[in-house]
Amino acid sequence: MSSRKFKDETIAIRTQTERTRHGEHSTPLFLTSSYAFDSGDEMADAFAGITEANVYSRYTNPNVEELVKKFCLLEEASAGLATASGMAAVFSSIAGLLNQGDHLIASRALFGSSIQVLSHILPRWGITCTYVDPVDLSGWEQALTPNTRMVFLETPSNPSLWITDLAGAGAFAHDHNLILAVDNCFASPVLQKPMKFGASLVIHSATKYADGHGRVLGGIVAGKEDLMEKIAFFNRHSGPSISPFNAWVISKSMETLALRVRAHCKQAEELASRLQDHPGLEAVIYPFSENHPQVDLARRQMEAGGGIVCIKVKGDYAKTLQFINHLEMISISPNLGDTRSIATHPTSSTHSRMTEEDRLTVGITPNLVRFSVGLEHIDDIEEDIRIALSKI
Ligand SMILES: Cc1ncc(COP(=O)(O)O)c(C=O)c1O
Repeated sequence: MSSRKFKDETIAIRTQTERTRHGEHSTPLFLTSSYAFDSGDEMADAFAGITEANVYSRYTNPNVEELVKKFCLLEEASAGLATASGMAAVFSSIAGLLNQGDHLIASRALFGSSIQVLSHILPRWGITCTYVDPVDLSGWEQALTPNTRMVFLETPSNPSLWITDLAGAGAFAHDHNLILAVDNCFASPVLQKPMKFGASLVIHSATKYADGHGRVLGGIVAGKEDLMEKIAFFNRHSGPSISPFNAWVISKSMETLALRVRAHCKQAEELASRLQDHPGLEAVIYPFSENHPQVDLARRQMEAGGGIVCIKVKGDYAKTLQFINHLEMISISPNLGDTRSIATHPTSSTHSRMTEEDRLTVGITPNLVRFSVGLEHIDDIEEDIRIALSKI
């Protein structure tokens, strides 16, 4: 594209690989593991970084570069890379930067696998973590050690939809010279841009809203160039690269990212309001609902409330599973960000490996159900839930 400053919707559509001599309009799939050179000298220069060229698809690939460029522009980050999954993005953003003996502070309200990485995998290499409250930042200072290097958080959090004050976290990281890594998966760059609040790195599971149709896995890390160089070195040699096919699928989907995310938000907000007073529910949780304890903060840092609504069924674990079993149209699945509505029971699935005590501390009660609100007609989504609730 030219040097004109384009808006996000245009960027997501018009950022494209250079057209080949075939004149294709849509980006072709560069399904190649390596690239060929005219001479050994040319290949040596490419390997040495003297010339900028694709060498091997573990390092670079045109489809991957297109995807990464879109995310960097949308997240206002100077550099980025793509990985095979969101978890590879989470892992490499920490393992690529921290050393043995380093410490990080992490929000207690994180996706289950991120907690496993922080609590059980990284400590094997001497990298330790102290969990802090996602909402009240006043206790964060007490968690600091002389070796603290990073703050890691996600907002809104999966699944309980806690909102962490990004400006506050940015100021904390700045004051203590820490890397601030924000998992922006639930908001997507359409709703929230953590770099504007002082984040050093933004992480995505591109499996979610970026793909948006529940087909492929992918992850993104984007951020400051000096940090990204280190993560790129780690990934180049440890190999969690995304498949060119997945990058091609996700990049094409991103052409409708803004449209879809805004439509998901509209659906979710409407569903939350329609279910608010349902007698079979103990609670309905949505960041932009008036009764969300952090609605003002959510409105300050997000364009809309996101596509996830959580409910707490009046009843126990068994009754909650019964409710899920009575859903007819809504899928029972662990994914989110799909055009199809999905119900997930975090206690028995995505967050089942956390201790019960840790789950309860962040509001993951046995009666909590997470809905990824899809793009089916809102009346059909609501009816599916009402019918299932009437049967328990
Ligand atoms: C907030 C968050 N981060 C990271 C991930 C991991 O992404 P992936 O499943 O693509 O590895 C997920 C998956 O649900 C998630 O919800």
